[in-house]
Amino acid sequence: MTTLAGITTIKDLPIENKRVFIRVDFNVPLEEQPDGAQVITDDARIVQALPTIRHALERGARIILASHLGRPRHPSPSNDPKLSLEPCGSRLAELLGVEVHMPEDCIGDAAKKVVFDLRPGQVCLLENLRFHPEEEKNDDAFAQKLAELCDVYVDDAFGAVHRAHASVHALPKLIRERGCGFLLEKEIAALSKIVDSPERPFLAILGGAKVSDKIAVLESLLERVNALVIGGAMANTFLAAQGVELQASKIEDDRRALARTILDKAREKKVTVLLPVDLVVASNLHSPAGQVVDVGAVPEGHMALDIGPKSVALFEAAIASAKTVFWNGPMGLFERAPFAHGTFAVARALAESSAFTVIGGGDSAAAVKDAGEGVAAKFSHISTGGGASLELIEGKKLPGIEVLRRQESATSSSV
Ligand code: 3PG
Repeated sequence: MTTLAGITTIKDLPIENKRVFIRVDFNVPLEEQPDGAQVITDDARIVQALPTIRHALERGARIILASHLGRPRHPSPSNDPKLSLEPCGSRLAELLGVEVHMPEDCIGDAAKKVVFDLRPGQVCLLENLRFHPEEEKNDDAFAQKLAELCDVYVDDAFGAVHRAHASVHALPKLIRERGCGFLLEKEIAALSKIVDSPERPFLAILGGAKVSDKIAVLESLLERVNALVIGGAMANTFLAAQGVELQASKIEDDRRALARTILDKAREKKVTVLLPVDLVVASNLHSPAGQVVDVGAVPEGHMALDIGPKSVALFEAAIASAKTVFWNGPMGLFERAPFAHGTFAVARALAESSAFTVIGGGDSAAAVKDAGEGVAAKFSHISTGGGASLELIEGKKLPGIEVLRRQESATSSSV
């Protein structure tokens, strides 16, 4: 069971006047400007963290926000300025309308000076946790240094709960008063409904580039869904496994056998599998336009870059009859207009459906934003975590969630 059992939410934590460490996921996409400045291209993860931060502000907490950003390379340069959280601090200050103090490190004197000067209702954002390699090593000594900064621990970084990293796993073990923020609570509630008690028919739509990225989730979903739609480049491997000639399309040759096994298992379990019946093809990724062909008729030298209109109609019908839908992965190269139609059509069909609709983060969440005005708002839940939502859907116990449960008691109280 994937539940909130044993997890205290921020509402019930004693945060008034306390130094409250809130682990957020501000791992947002950045674009480098000609002058070298980093600009946030999608602030959704910052916006989604606001309810928890505002709640803590209203209750007079001294707020210490901490996040990772990107994957800094070690040993050097370990504090790559391109991966500084500074743009996130500035954006957060705009959104909250309060000053966000930013120490130049997440531990040590620089952090202590800022944190211990915080008054109730003030906010600081520590510098990128991953500037210290100990963060990803789940290092206890590093976690202890973070623990010295705070009295209460709140995890609201859903996107990082599948990582056994120091700020997510080793640190909360050191803090007696710990729990989840509103975003983590909302994510667990929505995804647990999909895992534990989906209203049927339950349809999963999987797309994206590779079968190899989705094996575990495919196998786990086969045990639970009534129907499975497969699109995007991963559908090519399934079609090829059935003997369809796809010319220059991207296919994972070493996964054909696996694709056949998955299709056999689906038949055994009476799970309907829908694959594209037509495709939008082109001779290369940069073609200004695509050509619609049936799956068996891809011209020589051409590659599949989107699903065709007959496939869209087939998938729309499956969506219309479902009561629960989980979607992860685009239907094609949606970043390019000639190949975006299939992905956007699926997004719009889901938005119009009365089913409980959940998007598992990543590219599909980005596609929904581009699919049209108001489309995103019509989904039941759009997860902020790509990898985390897939692992939760696989039925895994995630370290950042399990550590918050009451039965895993704190080894010492905080300083
Ligand atoms: C994400 O973007 O999925 C999360 O922030 C986790 O990032 P990571 O994959 O670099 O751990």
